[in-house]
Amino acid sequence: MVVPNKTTDKMLRAFNDTLALLFAHKAGFFKILSRNDALSETELSEQMCIPQRSTSALISLFVAQVPPLVKKDENGKISLATEARTYLVPDSPLFMGGLIDFINENPDTFQPDVFAKQMREDKPHRPMFIEDKTFNQQMVAAMNGKSTGPASIWAEKLDLSNYKHFLDIGGGSGIFSKNLLKSHPHLKATVFELPYIVEVTQEFVKGTAVETVNGSFFEDDYPVADIHFYSDIFHDYAENDCIMLATKSFKFLPKNGRIILHELPFNDSKTEPLSTAVYNFSVIRWTHGRQYSQNELIRFLKNAGFSQIESIATGYLDWMLVTGIKL
Ligand SMILES: C[S@@+](CC[C@H](N)C(=O)[O-])C[C@H]1O[C@@H](n2cnc3c(N)ncnc32)[C@H](O)[C@@H]1O
Repeated sequence: MVVPNKTTDKMLRAFNDTLALLFAHKAGFFKILSRNDALSETELSEQMCIPQRSTSALISLFVAQVPPLVKKDENGKISLATEARTYLVPDSPLFMGGLIDFINENPDTFQPDVFAKQMREDKPHRPMFIEDKTFNQQMVAAMNGKSTGPASIWAEKLDLSNYKHFLDIGGGSGIFSKNLLKSHPHLKATVFELPYIVEVTQEFVKGTAVETVNGSFFEDDYPVADIHFYSDIFHDYAENDCIMLATKSFKFLPKNGRIILHELPFNDSKTEPLSTAVYNFSVIRWTHGRQYSQNELIRFLKNAGFSQIESIATGYLDWMLVTGIKL
C-alpha cells in the first residue's frame, strides 16, 4: 500500500492558507461578516467588491478548516464561526489583526529569495528594533496581535498576592500588564521599553493604570520592582544574552523577588510541539535567537542564582511560564 503524502502535501499547500487569510483580512471579509448575522455569497462578494468566484473560493477554504473560520447554513448563508469571531474581528478584545497587517505590510517576510538568504547567512535580513515610527507602530501592533490570546490567561496560573510592582521588560504593547491588572488590581505595572517604542506603547495602554519607563535592557538599570516579567524576550537572543538578562534581574530584584519568563518552549530533544517548531522558523529569520527548551530556560535562571524554579503551562496552546525566586 502506498503511504499518502499527507504531510508533504500539507506543507506544500500551506502558503495558500496564508495568502487567503492575509487577503481576506485586508478585503474586510471577517469585518463585513461580523456586522451581519449571515450573508449569501453574492452579498458578501458585493460588499467586499471581490468577484463571486474568488469570494466562493475563500468561503470554501475557511469552511473546510478544522476548526472552521466560517459556517455555511442549509440555505447557503455564510456566518463567522467562533474562532473567527474571537480573533479576526476588530471589535474583539483578542483581535490579532495587527499581526496580519504586519505580514501584509512587510511582504519580504515571506518571499522565498529573502528566506533563502536569511537561512544561508544565518541572520535577519533587516533589524527588528529600529527608530522608524511607522514600522514600530506595525511591529508593536503585530506583537499585540500575537499576544492577545496568551496574555488573556497567563496571570491566573500564579499567586502574585504578596508582590507589589510588576516590571514588564520589553513589554511591547503592554498587553500582559493590562490583563494582569484586571485580575491583580493591587499590583503596579510598568512597561520597560526602548524610548522609540514607548511612544507606541503609550497609545496601547492609554486609559489604563499601566505606566511606561524608557530604557534598554542592555544598557540601563531596571527601576525598582519585585517581579521581572519577560514575554518572548529570551527567544530573541543568543544564550549568553539570556544569561546576562537573567543575571541582571537577579541583581536588581529585591530578596524574594520573582522572575517570570513567558515563552513557547521546545521539548528537550526539540522534536515538538509543532507550534514551537513553526514559531522558531519565524524567530530565527527575524532575530539572533531561537525557541529554547524548558530545560534551557530553567538553566538560564539557575545560572543567574534563582531558586524554587518551576515551569507551568499557562493553558493557552503550548505557552509556558518559567519562574524563579531570588532567596
Ligand atoms: C518579541 S517582542 C515581545 C513584546 C511583548 N513582551 C510580547 O510578548 O508581546 C520584543 C520586545 O522587546 C523590546 N526590546 C527590544 N530590545 C530592547 C531593549 N534593548 N530594551 C528594552 N526593550 C527592548 C522590543 O521593542 C519589543 O517590544
